Amino acid sequence: MVIDIHNHFFPAAWPDLAERYGTPNWPSIKHTEPGKADIMVGERFFRHVYSACWEPEVRLQEMDRDGVETQIISATPVLFAYDRPREHALDCARLFNDAALELCSRGRGRLKSLCQVPLQDIDAACKELTRCMKAGHLGVQIGNHVGEKNLDDPGIVTFLQHCADEGAAVLVHPWDMMGQARMPKYMMPWTVGMPAETQLGIVALIVSGAFDKLPERLRICFAHGGGSFAFLLGRLENAWHRHPVAHGACQFPPSHYINRFSVDSAVFDQHALQYLVTTMGADQVMLGSDYPFPLGEERVGSLIRDSRLSPQEKTKLLGGNAQRFLALAGADDDHEKTSAATAGPTGGPGPQHPEQLTYSSYLKIPELLELQQPQSSPQHHDELLFIVVHQTYELWFKELLHDLDGVVANLKAAGANPASRDEVYEAARLLRRCTEITRVLVEQFTILETMLPTHFLAFRDKLEPASGFQSEQFRELEFLCGLKDEKMLRYHKPTPEAHAQLGRRLREPSLHDVFFDALRALGKLAALPENATERERFEARARAVQSLYQDDRHYRDWIDVCERLTEFDELVVSWRLRHIQMVERTIGVNMGTGGSAGASYLKLTLEKKFFPELWEARTLLMK
Ligand code: HEM
Repeated sequence: MVIDIHNHFFPAAWPDLAERYGTPNWPSIKHTEPGKADIMVGERFFRHVYSACWEPEVRLQEMDRDGVETQIISATPVLFAYDRPREHALDCARLFNDAALELCSRGRGRLKSLCQVPLQDIDAACKELTRCMKAGHLGVQIGNHVGEKNLDDPGIVTFLQHCADEGAAVLVHPWDMMGQARMPKYMMPWTVGMPAETQLGIVALIVSGAFDKLPERLRICFAHGGGSFAFLLGRLENAWHRHPVAHGACQFPPSHYINRFSVDSAVFDQHALQYLVTTMGADQVMLGSDYPFPLGEERVGSLIRDSRLSPQEKTKLLGGNAQRFLALAGADDDHEKTSAATAGPTGGPGPQHPEQLTYSSYLKIPELLELQQPQSSPQHHDELLFIVVHQTYELWFKELLHDLDGVVANLKAAGANPASRDEVYEAARLLRRCTEITRVLVEQFTILETMLPTHFLAFRDKLEPASGFQSEQFRELEFLCGLKDEKMLRYHKPTPEAHAQLGRRLREPSLHDVFFDALRALGKLAALPENATERERFEARARAVQSLYQDDRHYRDWIDVCERLTEFDELVVSWRLRHIQMVERTIGVNMGTGGSAGASYLKLTLEKKFFPELWEARTLLMK
């Protein structure tokens, strides 16, 4: 299914709008020769157009030529009339909305439409949208501003909420470009002004916090690849983090919101398309051509088809994402179910036939398989293995954090109620899982060791300065277990969310803290004087453990927890050791991509233990 979501039409004729409304400078069409016409604005020439604009048969032939199955047509922004009186803009919208449906009715089911609304009057805009959705439009095309109002204007946000409620797809098109006095020539309003307008529209919605207020089921797409947004996201992000005034009212950094909107593919350059997909994700980019205008894609879809995107990504961009965006029957992913599940009481049509959960949709297999993106070019065979192994480690780290959080919760509960044994058993059970996972993690390095050092060197320079130092979850595991080292936060400066999460872990009680708090509650660990040294405290904790082991008739369950914690500690050291061996085998004693001395640095970490008191207790038991 190939769907072009951004292309335009003009009817073959329409009433004389200047005469109808008694005001000058309305768009009109002047047929110049068979199949050709000029669009005029008042007396001013605006654009040459040809019969594909108004003749479905011509469109369908060109769609067949280009392998496009469905076009979603919309009127042209020059017809928006946002600066006209409400009644005129509404009447004009109705004329062209009905003309669009008439054109679609002759499109043999392959033409669908987006309506336009008088966005200067929110009530009228909402009513016209509702009328149009009932009449068969799939959504609405709006301009990126109404006079001085950007998309974050409360009225426009209300309209977008209404679109979400109606289940209407929204295509935002730049128009009425800024700075035209300085761009009188060379089509600069189109080449410079339009991308800037679109950037402005997206940024306004993000930093104003509008996306925080609008429901996630809102389906909104920005034309022309989102203008300059993707390329300048880094700049926006930098400003957001470094200048409080750039924060606006959004809850999260700007990049957090990129899954809240889509963009079309009208960027006309392979590198730009690749970059767009990398930035926005393959689920957020859809075929849009600007057909049949002079700046449109000449062979619709060729940019995507000729790209180096994977077959799955191409399928998404060419039509899969549009099916979802337009809520067409057959849309094949679970975003639809999310929107159905989150639809409010006034919720729109949503999916007509809620899909059954499948193996693939439950486990998000397509999304998972999109996540391996080698950097080497041409792609080195072993880079995929390198990525898959790291990702697998990170998934298991995630599970470990989840289970260790469970252990902490159970030990806290055990401390709060020392008479109850259930939580102690549950903590031991979860710890057993943690040790089994870690055992697998130790073994996994052998797979990576099938990669020759030379193979790794072939793509290693692509990794810098990324490094295992930046594994947020590994550091979280260390902090959660009790090895807290604030200095390690410096490696997470480039990823503020990770930095903040690690900061939270630093402040929260660790597994080590909670375990000994529970022993205190059990009466095994006496309070020490304020001025007790760290060594004295350590010895007291070790003696508390020793006393558990010496009374195994009463504390079998607690001893089991101690054994599991010891085993976990032991296995993490094994992990460190195997990592070092693999590092030496791969890069010898060279420096790491994170700037450390490599293996010799890592060897220092072998001394680290989460629960040294559990080991000390063994020495005490022999005395
Ligand atoms: C060819 C494979 C690998 C090499 C050459 C390698 C090399 C290194 C080096 C040299 C360091 C020290 C920091 C630096 O300077 O970058 C490091 C740290 C680290 N690596 Fe690897 N690594 C490899 C695979 C892995 C894998 C598969 C994982 C799994 C998650 C991993 C996780 C880590 C972690 C968590 C650290 C931080 C350790 C700490 O600070 O205690 N590495 N790695």
